[in-house]
Amino acid sequence: MESIVVEARDRPYVEARVRAGILEQGSVDVLREIGVGQRMDREGIVHAGTQLRFDGTNHRIDFEALTGRKVMVYGQQEVVKDLIAQRVADDLPIHFGVSDVQLHDLTSTSPRVTYTDENGARQEIVADYIAGCDGYHGVSRGHIPAGHLTEFERIYPFAWFGILANAKPSSDELIYAHSPRGFALHSLRSDSVVRNYLQVAPGTDPNAMSDDEIWDEYDRRFALQDEPFTINRGEITERVVTPMRSWVVTPMRYERLMLAGDAAHTVPPTGAKGMNLAVADVVVLAEGLTKALQSNDESGLDQYSDIAVRRVWRAEHFSWWMTSMLHRFPPEHPEGDEFGLQMQLSQLRYYTSSEAAMRTLAENYVGLPFGAAL
Ligand code: PHB
Repeated sequence: MESIVVEARDRPYVEARVRAGILEQGSVDVLREIGVGQRMDREGIVHAGTQLRFDGTNHRIDFEALTGRKVMVYGQQEVVKDLIAQRVADDLPIHFGVSDVQLHDLTSTSPRVTYTDENGARQEIVADYIAGCDGYHGVSRGHIPAGHLTEFERIYPFAWFGILANAKPSSDELIYAHSPRGFALHSLRSDSVVRNYLQVAPGTDPNAMSDDEIWDEYDRRFALQDEPFTINRGEITERVVTPMRSWVVTPMRYERLMLAGDAAHTVPPTGAKGMNLAVADVVVLAEGLTKALQSNDESGLDQYSDIAVRRVWRAEHFSWWMTSMLHRFPPEHPEGDEFGLQMQLSQLRYYTSSEAAMRTLAENYVGLPFGAAL
């Protein structure tokens, strides 16, 4: 199958942009299968469980014991680097820094993409199919006629303030913390780089807090009742505030255009599902395209949206649920009262004590196998 990739940003930008960092077992398997897993297997860190912290107590969810599956800590931009490097090594076309991308003739059997290349020349690609893998802000979706798509959305009354810092991890596993001061997450990228998050109000200025204030806030939100616990500190090298939103558009196909990844759905980061859903989409899409191009049989593409969307909704529910259980809602929000808080704490106790409940959390976190009934 021949393909041409056109990308609006330049290569350094897409390779440097810090995104999520957890790969489900299924995503890991796919990257290995397509031959881009070597660096991931060398540098990625396998986690067999995670920590949930609330009421000043720590609770472990043992993914491996509960599901037989694990996750891999490996930054999304590292996956992006590996995919680009493989494409370049294989001498396959990938054009960075393009602008004014337009899609044409989507209802014909030879849809086209036109764009301006990085030298300012207008270019045209005539294709059999177009995959719109261009994210929430991408142009593909806008070429689908109004009325063809249904959108679903949930906006949360909080945001994540993320930092990257040169510090030693303070825990062998990620810590998701519910605290009276709001949610916090301790994650990592290597044995000398951590990625931590704080729940903040939407629109918070990432430079509003000093480095010390940030570290002090982690210490308050991760505090344990019965023993001292502090987060290892270090130089903060990046600060970013991310809004929290659940968003889905269906169907994911319009004639010869197939949407995949964030072009069709976004999740709040609490369940670490964004990149994994994109991988799952293209697994189904690649099968459909192969059948269509090799056997002139569009049945796989006809099913693409229905199959992909079922996994999308599972991940939407899981990330909405994790988000709702772990964050403090503002007092003016319907969930922000004392009843809402007791609902969260009861769920947290249940999902860290009942084996059935822990398995539910674990199997969603590590990702249901491809082909599972969803
Ligand atoms: C991250 O390491 O960036 C990360 C990990 C887990 C999440 C979200 C983000 O749920």
